Amino acid sequence: MTTLACFGAGRIGRIHAGNAAAHPGTTLKYLVDPMAGPEAEAVAASCGAALVSDDRVFEDPAVDGIIIASSTDSHADLLSRAAQAGKAVFCEKPISLDFRLTRQVAAEVEAAGIPCLMGFQRRYDTSFRQVRERIASGVSGPVEQIVMFSRDPSPPPGSYVRTSGGMFRDSSIHDVDMARFLLDEPITRVFAVGSNLISDEIRAAGDVDTLTITLVTGSGRMAQVVACRRGPMGYDQRLEVLCSREVLTVANQPVSTMSITTAEGTLAAPPENYFLERFRQAYAAEMAAFIALIRDGTQPLAGIRDGLEAQRLVEAAQLSARTGRAIDLTPDWSPEP
Ligand SMILES: NC(=O)c1ccc[n+]([C@@H]2O[C@H](COP(=O)([O-])OP(=O)(O)OC[C@H]3O[C@@H](n4cnc5c(N)ncnc54)[C@H](O)[C@@H]3O)[C@@H](O)[C@H]2O)c1
Repeated sequence: MTTLACFGAGRIGRIHAGNAAAHPGTTLKYLVDPMAGPEAEAVAASCGAALVSDDRVFEDPAVDGIIIASSTDSHADLLSRAAQAGKAVFCEKPISLDFRLTRQVAAEVEAAGIPCLMGFQRRYDTSFRQVRERIASGVSGPVEQIVMFSRDPSPPPGSYVRTSGGMFRDSSIHDVDMARFLLDEPITRVFAVGSNLISDEIRAAGDVDTLTITLVTGSGRMAQVVACRRGPMGYDQRLEVLCSREVLTVANQPVSTMSITTAEGTLAAPPENYFLERFRQAYAAEMAAFIALIRDGTQPLAGIRDGLEAQRLVEAAQLSARTGRAIDLTPDWSPEP
């Protein structure tokens, strides 16, 4: 039996808690959320977990691993405590909005040698993963160019934007991680632009709502992230990879495959509503991977170093957008002065 605890009972916490509790041979013993109210109690009850304080989790030797699905500002401290307690950890992105702390905590996790999976769930999405496997098989030939479209159905409120760390760190971190996953070669140059085209509330919160990031590897392969906080066609998550022998694409996942055709043309179903629906399968698969990591050491598709590197890239992209300069990403480049 694998025993887990989940921190955070919000949007993503309840998904991870549910997936952990539903996994065969796994118990979600505890749920922790300082804002615990009727909603957290309902999540705990549905998972068979006790709602407790954080100390109880770290003091309990029966807990094999913790899931950090709480607000971003709590991740670094919980990672550090997991490292000290020798517990395996599943951590949502980003590690911290403070890069110095991100680096410090990543070093603590590595020094402690605790099993760690970073919550880059797109790596566990069947379609994105098949692209990676096809490239790795050598059939496609070397990757030359990647284009990713990443658009939300509608802009988040200013209150969310103000604490999120901004669009680069909060959202595009998934895209740059996917670029790293598929390019499989260190990215050495980053250039980005960001604009306010759709939301006065986001502008007032000091963030951009539309951005493009260009990532280039040492050998000149490139990836482009095209992202917007609004998608007229709904949640838009598409990908195209140009390889020397093939073009690999991932299309949006429709809510239904039914279409209606008349003499005027064909009406197809819209894409899955948002990330919780689009990546439902991927969230369950990454939880299964976390449990496999604890049970038999099967290495996850994303670890703490991937969390650190993806964050370095979005910090570089944000700096590039602010200064209008391309950032040369030497191995020791850091956003800190
Ligand atoms: N991988 C993804 O697709 C994905 C999607 C959404 C959010 N996230 C990440 O997950 C995290 C949570 O996001 P969300 O949208 O669920 O936020 P949310 O605001 O809906 O929920 C966060 C919850 O964490 C609780 N919390 C705060 N500090 C805590 C602590 N120290 N211990 C336990 N609980 C604590 C809050 O009370 C709240 O209930 C963020 O870091 C976010 O970036 C990842």
